[in-house]
Amino acid sequence: MAGKALLNISASRHLEGEISVPGDKSISHRALILNSLATGRSQLANLSPGKDCVSTMNCLKALGVTFTKQNGNSPIVLIDGVGHSGLTEAKNVLDVGNSGTTIRLLSGVLSAQRFLSVITGDRSLRSRPMKRLIEPLSSMGAEIHGRANDSLAPLVIKGRKLHGINYTLKIPSAQIKSAIILAGLFATGDTVLKQLQVCRDHTERLLKLMGAEIHTDGKDISVTPLVTPLTSIDLDIPGDISSAAYWLVAGAIHPDADIRIRNCGINPTRTGIIDVLLAMGARLKIENHRVVGNEPVADLHIQSSRLKGIEVGGELIPRLIDEIPLLAVAACAAEGKTVIRDAGELRVKESDRIASTIKELSRLGARIEELPDGMIVNGGTMLLGNEVKSHGDHRLAMSLAIAGLVARGKTSILNARVAEISNPHFWRELSQLSHN
Ligand code: S3P
Repeated sequence: MAGKALLNISASRHLEGEISVPGDKSISHRALILNSLATGRSQLANLSPGKDCVSTMNCLKALGVTFTKQNGNSPIVLIDGVGHSGLTEAKNVLDVGNSGTTIRLLSGVLSAQRFLSVITGDRSLRSRPMKRLIEPLSSMGAEIHGRANDSLAPLVIKGRKLHGINYTLKIPSAQIKSAIILAGLFATGDTVLKQLQVCRDHTERLLKLMGAEIHTDGKDISVTPLVTPLTSIDLDIPGDISSAAYWLVAGAIHPDADIRIRNCGINPTRTGIIDVLLAMGARLKIENHRVVGNEPVADLHIQSSRLKGIEVGGELIPRLIDEIPLLAVAACAAEGKTVIRDAGELRVKESDRIASTIKELSRLGARIEELPDGMIVNGGTMLLGNEVKSHGDHRLAMSLAIAGLVARGKTSILNARVAEISNPHFWRELSQLSHN
C-alpha cells in the first residue's frame, strides 16, 4: 500500500500489540562511517533500513569501502574498514539523496582527505543550509565551495591538512558537531567544542567505544587527532526512538490502545518526547533498562491516556526536534493549549516543518497558530479526515498517518511512501497494530 501515490488511513477500533522498530538512524549513519574508517571487519545488526542510511552506505562504497549483506531473519551488514587513511577518491559525484546527516558528517571526513569530492543530494537537500557546516570546517583549514556563495549543495571539497579549533556551536546541531569532531580526528592539534545546548551525542559515545581520545565534560567536548587507528566494533543497534515515537503518540491519543515497543534506544539526548508525553499525562512506562553498545536501551509500554496541553521550549527542543510535527498531533488531542517555542530550526529540515505541519493538520480541522519559532495548538479538537500532502517529508507523512488513525472518516496522504527515508516498515507496523 505504501507504493501508491495516495495512501488512505481510517480510524482503527483498537491499537494493540508488541513491536520492535528498526535500528536508530542516527546511530546507524555513525556506525557505518566510523567502522569504515577503522581497521578490521565489523558486524552491524539491526542497521536502519531507511533510505538515508542506504545513501551513507552508497557514498562510502564509492569512496572504496566494502560492505557485505548477510540476509536472514535479522539482516547483518559486514564492513571491511579501510583505516583512517584508506578512503579513495570517488569516480563520480557523491549523492546523499535526502540525507542531511550524510552530507554533513561525510563533509567533515572528506575535508581532511588527500583527494577531491563533489557531494550533492535531492531537491530538498540542495535547499538546506550548508554555511553552518562550511564556516567551522573552513576555520580548520578546509577548502569547501558550494552554490549560492558557499551556502548550498552541491559542495566541492578539496581535501587539505586541517588544524584543530576552539569553537562554540551556536546552533544545537548534532550534524555540525559531528562534522567538526570527525574533521578533528584527522587534524593537527586538539579540537575543543562548546555546546550552548546539548544535542544528540551518538558520535561521542561511539568514538569512545572505538578507542578515540574524546572527552566530554557537560557541554564541552575535546577531541585529540587519531594516532592509533579506530578499533572496529560489532554493534546491535537499538530501535530508533524517533520511529517508536509515532506509536507512543498513537497509543496515548487513541481511545483503546495498548502497545509495547521492545528494544528502543533511550539516550537522554533523544528522550524529549518521552518527557513531554509524561508531562502531558501519558500512561507510559519505561521497562527493562539496559546498556547496549554504550547506549541506554529499554522497552516502552503505552496505553490510552488523557493528555493535557503543555509549554515546550528551551533546552528540551534539541531533545525532540524530529518529533515536533508528531507532538503537534498529540497536542490536537490534548485538553487545552500547547505552546511550542524556540524551534526555528524546524524551518530548515526536510520541509519547513512549522509551515507544512500547520498547513496539513489544519486541513484535518486542527486549530493551530503559527509562531516564527514554533506554534500554538489549541487542543480538544476532533480531527476530520481529508486529503493531505507529505511535502516530501518523511516525518510529516508519518505524523499525518497517526492523525488519520484517530480522525473521523478517511484521511488520504499524498506521497506517503516518503516514510521509507527513515522507516520503510512504518506501514507494516501500522497494520500490525491496528485491529478493527
Ligand atoms: C541528526 C541531527 C538532527 C536531526 C536529524 C538527525 C543526526 O539534525 O534533526 O534528523 O543524526 O545528527 P541537526 O543536526 O540539523 O539538528
